[in-house]
Amino acid sequence: MTIKSAEFVISNSDYRKCPSDGKPEYALIGRSNVGKSSLINMLTGKKGLAMTSSTPGKTLLINHFAINNEWYMVDLPGYGYAKRNKSQQETLETLIADYILERESLTCLFVLIDSRLEPQRIDLEFIEWLGENQVPFAIIFTKADKLSHGALTVNVQKFLDTLKEEWEELPPYFITSSLIGQGRDEILKWIESVNKDLENATA
Ligand code: GTP
Ligand code: MG
Repeated sequence: MTIKSAEFVISNSDYRKCPSDGKPEYALIGRSNVGKSSLINMLTGKKGLAMTSSTPGKTLLINHFAINNEWYMVDLPGYGYAKRNKSQQETLETLIADYILERESLTCLFVLIDSRLEPQRIDLEFIEWLGENQVPFAIIFTKADKLSHGALTVNVQKFLDTLKEEWEELPPYFITSSLIGQGRDEILKWIESVNKDLENATA
């Protein structure tokens, strides 16, 4: 897919106020600092589109970006950032959960996993919750540039093996680096094919 346009549309603290035109929507979730906002910039080829930061907890709202005026990419706040106070944490968790469970046009949730780490309990529990609620998702391993090919393969395999303990079928997964653009073509191609399937299903 060629990105012809990528525009910020709106930020919301409530899923009910998100765009209501029903265009297919792909949202990014994962631990704070895993690289969600950076990935949006990499996929769209627009560096400052989504706000990134080396300090975790930067994104605090549901942010809609219109891509080619055909579909949305959505940047969400991260989960599991320990330095937030309890009420702030709860507010964000409710915002995220309501969006994921109630947003009808959510086509796929991309769960971002830091490829440098061993499987983390918080990510596994989150994925389990998605399963319980039948939320369609795919996995994106991030920051692949930060480790050797061997170490990357080992970590990805470990994560997939852990998932296989619970899931009969693995979700689609992608290995990415926002720094060097790795995984961009694959993800955009996948989104394009899902959008086509949706179009055909509603035609
Ligand atoms: P929150 O909004 O706080 O939840 O974080 P986020 O998941 O949106 O992370 P963000 O994109 O802001 O990136 C966090 C940090 O990781 C920034 O310093 C990025 O430059 C860095 N980063 C993100 N992706 C990559 C990557 O693929 N490679 C490298 N080397 N650094 C990355
Ligand atoms: Mg962010």
